[in-house]
Amino acid sequence: MKRARAEILSNRRFGAYHSVTIVAPEIAEAARPGQFLSVAMPEGRAFLLRRHFSVHQSARRGGWAGTLEFTFEEHGQGTDWLAHQRAHSFLDVLGPIGTPFAFPRKLTNCLLVAEGHGAGSLYFLAQELRAQGKRVDLLVGAADLDHVFKPIEGKRLSQTVAFMTADGSMGERGSVLDALPGMAEQTGAQVLYAAGPQRMLRGVADFCRSRGLPAQIAVEERMGCGYGLCYTCTVPVARKDGSGYDPLRACVDGPVFNPARVLWDQWMGEAAPAGQMIPTPPEGFPAVRSWPD
Ligand SMILES: Cc1cc2nc3c(=O)[nH]c(=O)nc-3n(C[C@H](O)[C@H](O)[C@H](O)COP(=O)(O)OP(=O)(O)OC[C@H]3O[C@@H](n4cnc5c(N)ncnc54)[C@H](O)[C@@H]3O)c2cc1C
Ligand code: FES
Repeated sequence: MKRARAEILSNRRFGAYHSVTIVAPEIAEAARPGQFLSVAMPEGRAFLLRRHFSVHQSARRGGWAGTLEFTFEEHGQGTDWLAHQRAHSFLDVLGPIGTPFAFPRKLTNCLLVAEGHGAGSLYFLAQELRAQGKRVDLLVGAADLDHVFKPIEGKRLSQTVAFMTADGSMGERGSVLDALPGMAEQTGAQVLYAAGPQRMLRGVADFCRSRGLPAQIAVEERMGCGYGLCYTCTVPVARKDGSGYDPLRACVDGPVFNPARVLWDQWMGEAAPAGQMIPTPPEGFPAVRSWPD
C-alpha cells in the first residue's frame, strides 16, 4: 500500500455518478480489480474518517499511464465534498488496499453480476479477464436509467450484456437476481463474480451454492482505519475445513471473499448481536473447496 498526494486530472459527472481520475503512478502500477482506495477528507468533525472507493480503472501503459479512476455516488458529506473538487487540486490517497479478485486457471466462461456502483470494479475485472482470454458476460442492475453504470462501456467489455432496472426504464424490469438463472444458463457460466449491495450479494451466494458454481464477491463494510488495525469492518467467514469461523477484516482480508464461506445470517445481523460470539449452527459451519477451482 502506498500513500500519494495525487493531482486530480478530471472530475466528471455521468448519470447518477461522479468519476475522478487522479495521477498516482505507484498506486496505478500496483492496483488490481477488487482493490480499493482510501481518500482523506478535509479537516472537520464530519470528516474524521477517510472514505473508500473501488478502483474502476488503472492505466499502467499508454498515454495516460500512471492514472487511476474511481467512481462514486453522492451519499453524504464526504462524497458531496469530493464531487466539488476541481481538476488540478490534490487528494491524499492510500492504495491499493485489499485482496484483488482471483482469476480462474482453467475455466473460461465468467459471468459478472453488478448492481449500482458495484459495476465500477467489475468493469475493471472484465477488462483484465478478457486480456487473459476468458469469456466475459455482464449482468448489470440499477434502480433506474440514471443509475445504470456506463452501459456503452459494459457492451464493449462483454460478449453479451443484460441490463435490469427496478422501474423498467432500461432493459428488463426487475433485479439482477430475477435474471441470474436464465443468464447463467444462456452464457454457460462456469465462474461468477459479483459486486453490489449486501442483499444482492447474498442472493448471488444462494444461487451459486445451489448450482455448485465457484464465485467471488467484493463486499463494502463500514470502515474505521481502512488498513487492518481497528476491526470495525469484520465479516464472519467459515474456515476452509468447516472447523469454525473467523471474523475477517473486509479492508485487508477482503474486500473479495468466497460467498459460500460467508455466514450471511450472522453478517446481516439476523443471528448474533454485534460483538457476540456466533454459536455453531446445528448443521455445522460450511466446508468449501478453496478458490480457484
Ligand atoms: C471497500 C469499499 C469500496 C467502496 N467503493 C465505492 C465505490 O466504488 N463507489 C461508491 O459510490 N461508493 C463506494 N463505497 C461506499 C463509500 O465508501 C461510501 O458511500 C462513502 O464512504 C460515503 O461517505 P459520505 O461521507 O458521503 O457519507 P456519510 O453517510 O456521511 O458517511 C458517514 C460515514 O459512514 C461511512 N459509510 C457511509 N456509507 C457507507 C457504505 N456504503 N460503505 C461503507 N462505509 C460507508 C463513511 O465512510 C463515513 O465514515 C465503498 C465502500 C467500501 C468500504
Ligand atoms: S477498517 Fe480498520 S480493520 Fe478494517
